[in-house]
Amino acid sequence: MERGLFMRHHTGYIEVICGSMFCGKTEELIRRIRRATIAKQKVQVFKHRLDNRYEGVAKVTSHTGQHLEAQHISHSSELLPLVAPETTVVAVDEVQFFDDNIIDVIQELASREIRVIVAGLDLDFRGEPFGTMPEILCLAEEVTKLRAICVVCGEPASRTQRLVNGEPAHYDDPIILVGAEESYEARCRQHHIIRQGARDSLSPKAESEIG
Ligand code: TMP
Ligand code: MG
Repeated sequence: MERGLFMRHHTGYIEVICGSMFCGKTEELIRRIRRATIAKQKVQVFKHRLDNRYEGVAKVTSHTGQHLEAQHISHSSELLPLVAPETTVVAVDEVQFFDDNIIDVIQELASREIRVIVAGLDLDFRGEPFGTMPEILCLAEEVTKLRAICVVCGEPASRTQRLVNGEPAHYDDPIILVGAEESYEARCRQHHIIRQGARDSLSPKAESEIG
């Protein structure tokens, strides 16, 4: 089926690219988008406005500096009205930052014969499933789980270590903290550390050290 200049898919589907930080999710997303463009697909890229790590905000940017233009939105409800009728591929980076309604939004897109490619963290800094990711992973037709390299031992890394003043973050710390190398490292399961226990029980010195 063809409409205008763009090749339309016969059926929609959802692809997920997930894994820890620094595993190459955004790079892989950009690679797929470039290939889709070569295949004469009309692609739209979205990301959450929360992620303001890189200059030139209307982009998705990988840790290695590759980038593509993207539309920044604050809530999943903004996405569907922005999708053009001729669009055949919708990509969403940092999907873990979106509200629960993002699940219905990507399902709706897939039901419209759109190829939906989402990238996001499967686990938060505590090593627990991140927001809507478990459900998105179950609903997806295709899942790619990438691993980074553990900065401690060089084994493949599946976890993201959050560091606060160089110390492992506390279990009770807020889930959302936008950042890159200054706050996060890729680690394997063995070298991933979570500080347990009530923050209140820390000494004033420790408290001041971990912020
Ligand atoms: P990345 O997957 O492109 O590296 O970006 C992940 C973003 O998510 C980055 O801004 C840091 C943030 N983040 C959190 O907010 N909470 C977390 O628990 C983790 C691991 C990352
Ligand atoms: Mg990324």
